Amino acid sequence: MFEGQIAIVTGAGSPAGIGYAVAEELAKHGAFVVISDLPAFEARLDAAVANLKSRYPNVAMCAMDVSDAGSVDAAFSSITANYGPVDILVNNAGVGGGSSEFLQLSEADFKSAFDVNFMGAVNGCRAVLPSMRERGQGAIINIASLCGLGAIPEIPVSYTASKFAVVGLTKGIALEYAAEGIRCNAICPGAINTDMRKHLFERVAEEQNISTEDARAEEDAMIAMGRGGEPSEVARAVVFLADKNASYITGVALPVAGGMAPGV
Ligand SMILES: NC(=O)c1ccc[n+]([C@@H]2O[C@H](COP(=O)([O-])OP(=O)(O)OC[C@H]3O[C@@H](n4cnc5c(N)ncnc54)[C@H](O)[C@@H]3O)[C@@H](O)[C@H]2O)c1
Repeated sequence: MFEGQIAIVTGAGSPAGIGYAVAEELAKHGAFVVISDLPAFEARLDAAVANLKSRYPNVAMCAMDVSDAGSVDAAFSSITANYGPVDILVNNAGVGGGSSEFLQLSEADFKSAFDVNFMGAVNGCRAVLPSMRERGQGAIINIASLCGLGAIPEIPVSYTASKFAVVGLTKGIALEYAAEGIRCNAICPGAINTDMRKHLFERVAEEQNISTEDARAEEDAMIAMGRGGEPSEVARAVVFLADKNASYITGVALPVAGGMAPGV
């Protein structure tokens, strides 16, 4: 499916995360996949690559902090020099965190949400678009959130606002570069069973003085399918949007959310 194409997935070092599942699915379908995560997590990234490489030889790694434009530029230059220009960019790196109450959120909560979730995607797009334009092709998939479409209970406003910004970025880039053969789409996952969701339950349990199981049950009750999604279920949607089968799809923000409503 993706033979001869180079893909990069940011924030993909955690084996339990969405990024790792996306990298695995792209590698399974023939892409040469560069997985990336924070330089501080290089050991975890090493282990993730070794694990993937045992099944797919077409995997490499490159550490970067997506919130740091210099780090992103250096990483993409080395990826291009070593493997060639990037065909598929998956901006997946993200941070949750913060309080359910707007008035409890600090300036630092807003700054980290926007630096990583939004500027991280901006920095990735800026790094790949020049070569995508030169070659007249490319697919960018931004992992936004269902919170990028509406406000959901217990999710910090800082996170929601940053994900609305990612959806806006997606649509702006889609519009601007559509005629040049570059597609840009967002995926809006609902509640996906990763460490991020686990940490959400821990925080909500503490805020409401309930158990983490009750916090999970509260959220599951908001999902039509009655369960959280698996990272692989998001990964299969990424593969669809990255592939030429989606050649006439750009600028969409696709919920992968088991029928969970995007809220207010
Ligand atoms: N899990 C969910 O329910 C859910 C729902 C909607 C959207 N999302 C989004 O999906 C994406 C993946 O989340 P996940 O659930 O797998 O969480 P996760 O915490 O397992 O993964 C996030 C990854 O991003 C990396 N990261 C954080 N800051 C970074 C930085 N500055 N530079 C590079 N990498 C950085 C982390 O090290 C981690 O590996 C995120 O963008 C998240 O907002 C998750």
